[in-house]
Amino acid sequence: MRYGYFDDDACEYVLTRPDTPRSWSNYLGSRLYGGIVTQNAGGFSFFRSGGTGRLLRMRFNGVPQDEPGRFVYLRDDADGAFWSASWQPVGTPLEGPEPYVARVRHGLGYSVFESDHRDIHTEMTTFVPQGQAFEHWSVEVTNTGTTPRTISLFSYAELANEWSHQQDLLNLQYSQYVVRASYSDGFIHRLNSTRDVFSECWFTVTGADVVSFDTDRDLFLGPYRTPRDPVAVERGTCSGSETVGDNACASLHVRVELAPGETRHVVYTLGVGSPDAEWGDGTVTVRPGRDSVAEFATPERIATELAAIRSEWAGHLAPLQVSTPDPQLDSMVNVWHAYQTHMTFNWSRGVSLIETGGRDGLGYRDTAQDILSVVHSIPEAARERLDLLLTGQTAEGGALPLIKPLTHTPGKEPTPALEDYRSDDALWLPLSVAALVDETGDATYLDTVLPYADAGEDTVLGHLVQALRFSLEHRGAHGLVQGLDADWNDCIQFGTEGESMFSTFLLANGLRQVGELASLLERTEVVAWCAEQLALLLEDAEKAWDGDWYIRGISAVGAPLGTATADEGRIYLEPNVWAVISGVANPGRARQAMDSVHEHLASEHGIALCDPPHTKPIEGIGLSLLVFPPGHKENGGIFCHANSWAVVAEAMLGRGDRAYEYYRAYLPARYEDDAETRQVEPYVYSQFTHGPASPRFGQSRNPWLTGTASWTYVAVTQHLLGVRPTVAGLRVDPSIPSAWDGFEVRRRFRGRDVTVRVTNPDHVCSGVARLTVDGTPVEGDVAPECLLQDGSVVDVVLG
Ligand code: GLC
Repeated sequence: MRYGYFDDDACEYVLTRPDTPRSWSNYLGSRLYGGIVTQNAGGFSFFRSGGTGRLLRMRFNGVPQDEPGRFVYLRDDADGAFWSASWQPVGTPLEGPEPYVARVRHGLGYSVFESDHRDIHTEMTTFVPQGQAFEHWSVEVTNTGTTPRTISLFSYAELANEWSHQQDLLNLQYSQYVVRASYSDGFIHRLNSTRDVFSECWFTVTGADVVSFDTDRDLFLGPYRTPRDPVAVERGTCSGSETVGDNACASLHVRVELAPGETRHVVYTLGVGSPDAEWGDGTVTVRPGRDSVAEFATPERIATELAAIRSEWAGHLAPLQVSTPDPQLDSMVNVWHAYQTHMTFNWSRGVSLIETGGRDGLGYRDTAQDILSVVHSIPEAARERLDLLLTGQTAEGGALPLIKPLTHTPGKEPTPALEDYRSDDALWLPLSVAALVDETGDATYLDTVLPYADAGEDTVLGHLVQALRFSLEHRGAHGLVQGLDADWNDCIQFGTEGESMFSTFLLANGLRQVGELASLLERTEVVAWCAEQLALLLEDAEKAWDGDWYIRGISAVGAPLGTATADEGRIYLEPNVWAVISGVANPGRARQAMDSVHEHLASEHGIALCDPPHTKPIEGIGLSLLVFPPGHKENGGIFCHANSWAVVAEAMLGRGDRAYEYYRAYLPARYEDDAETRQVEPYVYSQFTHGPASPRFGQSRNPWLTGTASWTYVAVTQHLLGVRPTVAGLRVDPSIPSAWDGFEVRRRFRGRDVTVRVTNPDHVCSGVARLTVDGTPVEGDVAPECLLQDGSVVDVVLG
């Protein structure tokens, strides 16, 4: 079944039914003040951090999945009937004599909830004005009937007791007794105390006078009631409660009289800080709420601020727009997929309906990979983040598994014990640095001096060399890289005695890339060292060929994982794709490895991470994936992040038909007509899909904050469509389905807007026969920077 459609012109996903299989979310705001909002206005808000800046409470894993939220009730004061501006929480029947009609528009940085019920039309827009630490719920109420109406509006949100979401939700013996909230002169104030742990905030309404209020949650709802039927709304008036202990809420009640056809505009605003005083936490200062509201909460200003958000996003999306024969690919790449890469970059794995805030901060490898997909859009922010990551590397070359940006202190962080390092973390740095240098063409970045996390400093190139050295120095008995606490796969622990092929191939990739980067600065000794180390490593890596594919690694007792003779975990996806991407596998082995992946791991919904999934422990390897039933997550699930590497690998082999088949298998938009199968948002990639061995085969989970977003963006734009920045210019080397006649990409490259037009007269998958820049023929597949002007057209003919 279908629940909505892509409106690409408006950059919106429009839901025509609100009763989706799971909650379908959107994000609001910026890294200063953000929010999650679902199609039923469920969700929560946070100040700078999902874990330690909680403002609006979320009861995770609740029923339904997304409550509480930003709720506005409407009450017909003539007969007491009430419903909500979003379908839930009241959940008025969608069919029947007086149906509730809902339409939800998730846009970039805002969501709009439209409802029609009993001749009242509402439109509630939720958003955070640019750069502000407050949010609006702007509600327009229209009488679409023929008689005058009196409608009461009641807001309802639960205010967190503590900035820390864990304190708020779990440490109840304490947090229930600290909360205080009061109402005065139009504002609810969640009070501060002498300590700064409390999420001080204010809430107000403009456009109508406050008739009554509640700040105590339980008095607003009433005993044995839920947000579906609050006693205050049923009664038609709040109780005027002040909160001292237990739980606070923000309910302001206003009343509007509506003549037939008349619209009233009421704006609820929630902000960090205090109504009447400036507020700060040492690093950020916000104005008194009353000042912000006077300036921002007018209909005109709301329209201007929404337009500003739209134009900011248009600016982020414009650097890469595509037009292909696949409209679903276009809707994703041009709008939603790009948007998801920014959300993932902004919030790492810290805040969604699934990432509840426990993984607050920046996972090292996650962030290194998140950078890859935004560097063309926001190069300065990407560089800033990369600088931060480099300062999370220790002087011996490994990396801190997690960086806490708000408290990170380079030079003073503790050095992890060897067994606590992940063997892949620092090995992602060459990819991120190369992405920045290729995008900007500025190799001088490599000479920037940055501190290490624990002690000392080095140039960026020095940091990269140190990352390689760390892995080279920590190799096992077979010359392969030790697995340590984990490699990319969190659930496989090869330890200090076992060896990981994933990290070995990533090291090979790093040696190649760092050699290339060093050659830009003519650091010949580094270039030679990389080449020499790579050659030695390759000799050992070759031994990991199992006959038809590469093994996954070698256990602490010397036994291979991922070998044809095994009963379980016979073949793994990761080593095979990385053997190809790193350039280690020769063409014959590369094709064979990827054919084996196709034969043993591919399915209609994507490629399983391993097969058969594990049910038994293996001596010498920590397989924490055993906690998962077969087919789930790392235990033979379709881990979408790793699927993107298969797209890259097939594209690198020039096999566009297969690269595209793999891409389509987990393309969210493909499931629009069949939402029951995938269940999560058809406009968002998820971390994984349950694999063939699971009774939930085809259901996707953990949407939004996942490396799938970044890598699939790289896979589709740089490998399938093949438009890739290089220091010399823009490479165009597509690997597309043979059925395509061609496609077009508009790409901003070093400040110039360039159009790439690819035609495919012979219906091949890959191979550039001709390339011209504004009519001038060029040898090879790189449009050189010196020929590219603003407005240039690069014509490429495949054949
Ligand atoms: C999750 C983690 C990521 C890890 C992956 C595979 O996506 O965020 O760091 O690489 O799982 O285990």
